[in-house]
Amino acid sequence: MCGIIGYVGPLGAVGIVLSGLQRMEYRGYDSAGLAMLDSADGALKRVRVSGKIPDLQRAVEQELPEPVAGRCHIGIGHTRWATHGAPTVSNAHPHLSRNGRIAIVHNGIIENYLPLKQRLIGKGYRFESETDSEVLAHLIEECYDGDLHRAVAMALEMVEGTYGIAVVSSQHPDVIVAARKGSPIALGVGNGENIVASDVSAIVNYTTRVIYLDDEDIATITPAGVQISSLKNVPVNRELRHVDWQPGELEKGGFEHFMLKEIHEQPEALANAIRGRLLEKDGTTRLSGVQMEPADYARVSRIIIAACGTSYFAGMVGKYHFESLADLPTEVEQAAEFRYRNPIIERDSCLLAVSQSGETADTIEAVREARRKGANVLGICNVVGSTIARETGRGVYLHAGPEISVASTKAFSCQVVVLAMLAIAFGRARRMSAGVGRDLVAGLARVPQLAEAVLRQTDHIRQVAEKYADAEHCFYLGRGYMYPVALEGALKLKEISYIHAEGYHAAELKHGPIALLDETVPVVAVVPDVHGRSKTVNNMQECRARKSPVIAIATEGDDEVDQFADDIIRVPPCPDFLAPVPVVVAEQLLAYYIARKRGCPIDQPRNLAKSVTVE
Ligand code: F6R
Repeated sequence: MCGIIGYVGPLGAVGIVLSGLQRMEYRGYDSAGLAMLDSADGALKRVRVSGKIPDLQRAVEQELPEPVAGRCHIGIGHTRWATHGAPTVSNAHPHLSRNGRIAIVHNGIIENYLPLKQRLIGKGYRFESETDSEVLAHLIEECYDGDLHRAVAMALEMVEGTYGIAVVSSQHPDVIVAARKGSPIALGVGNGENIVASDVSAIVNYTTRVIYLDDEDIATITPAGVQISSLKNVPVNRELRHVDWQPGELEKGGFEHFMLKEIHEQPEALANAIRGRLLEKDGTTRLSGVQMEPADYARVSRIIIAACGTSYFAGMVGKYHFESLADLPTEVEQAAEFRYRNPIIERDSCLLAVSQSGETADTIEAVREARRKGANVLGICNVVGSTIARETGRGVYLHAGPEISVASTKAFSCQVVVLAMLAIAFGRARRMSAGVGRDLVAGLARVPQLAEAVLRQTDHIRQVAEKYADAEHCFYLGRGYMYPVALEGALKLKEISYIHAEGYHAAELKHGPIALLDETVPVVAVVPDVHGRSKTVNNMQECRARKSPVIAIATEGDDEVDQFADDIIRVPPCPDFLAPVPVVVAEQLLAYYIARKRGCPIDQPRNLAKSVTVE
């Protein structure tokens, strides 16, 4: 989604802002821009494009040639993912106030922008964009009486909705004012220079010392430091945190795409996810971040998992874990639905908010609703210090490392494993014996090898993928643990290859979708040797009978499937609860190589954003 970056300090702001924007490209965007303060004439200079960062770079070279660029030591930039208004230059940020002295970049949605806009038009303000964001620039100008911090606070008091915002003004040549409500803002604290960004990946190249703003915080950022207060001007202290991402982690490391790199990182990511958390002797797991004793685990009578997209499918796998390993009734909720129903949350319910980014708006709101209803809430996040991690204050980090590719890969497999570890902790506090716990934990210790075994077959999977790259429709079928994994396989294929792919419970095929099968519609049968396999093998035969080519994802040595499949991808044998991991690695590689053969922009698929921070 949209990205914000701002710099103030002795260095050239143009280069820093451009490279910050580049680091946030993975979030998905369709236009970009920056505003710089030229120290020679004290004027704000703005450059915007409808397009990508290289287009912006070229525009900057023309419109801010040296020595102008070298004279800019403060500036803000933005990548925009269109919501209100098409991705045109005039809708791109930064937006300028009427007098041209204030520039703003904004993430989020101003819900009451229409009445505010009408009122401002009545006062003679002219709007050059169709965006909701532009009202902020004019409101700040209207409120300004010499104090930028106060003007921004007053303007924000008038808006309803969500915002992450950064503001510069030609009247304050060394000040950026930033604020947040519902849309993340982080401050990178340097020596004699400071950065503001919506995403720490834009900061870690300069500093690993980061302060996250809370909702309704407003910060004044100068080269000398940062001061944070509430919108009501009450000073607040926010913790200085150290981000453990290394700049190198944000590079492609020789892979053609971030997605391929992240698929290949899974053995290491999984090893990090389980490190120090398996108690093999006691047959249980230790997840200190959840801050629960066995008695607390035992008191929980129901699990609710709220998540979106890929994290939702991992949550569906979690349902199988909690029911089969911990005997706990479990519901999985699409977070967007959860917040608008009247979810029944009893005192002993535990809500797990599963989110790679920890910034997904619907999942954040599910957390807030569950807390209002008194539930025990845990965050299962990858991004340390993200909104969900901070608001829940308790939970489990994935430790998967930064996920840059828009299509989620390593987060899914780590979520599956973290949910399994949590289910074992719950199970052991309830009815699970030490012996069963020890077997499960021993299985988990081998999970990185399961991913590795599939990665060794990359060449074979690429050859299979290339055969099917011309398909326009595709089905993924599975049951039991493989049902959510089939849904995830279909999601991966559709988002990066633009092939229309449907994931179905294998038994549902006969209830309608089988009408669509013919020789042009391949079916991916997800049939590793887990409970329910033989029934899905029967469904493979039904697909064959309708002439659909069948690609089977099956266990090594399971020769029975050969006669019903046109192509087979093998996964290593493993316990049922871990099978989603090797199978999803196979699905990710299949989707990746199909998309690559079709020439798709794999890391930034059209219309998609990495982190969906609006409803
Ligand atoms: C798909 C994908 C999305 C995300 C979803 C939730 O590849 O990446 O479906 O899984 O937007 O994001 P998080 O996990 O950050 O809450």
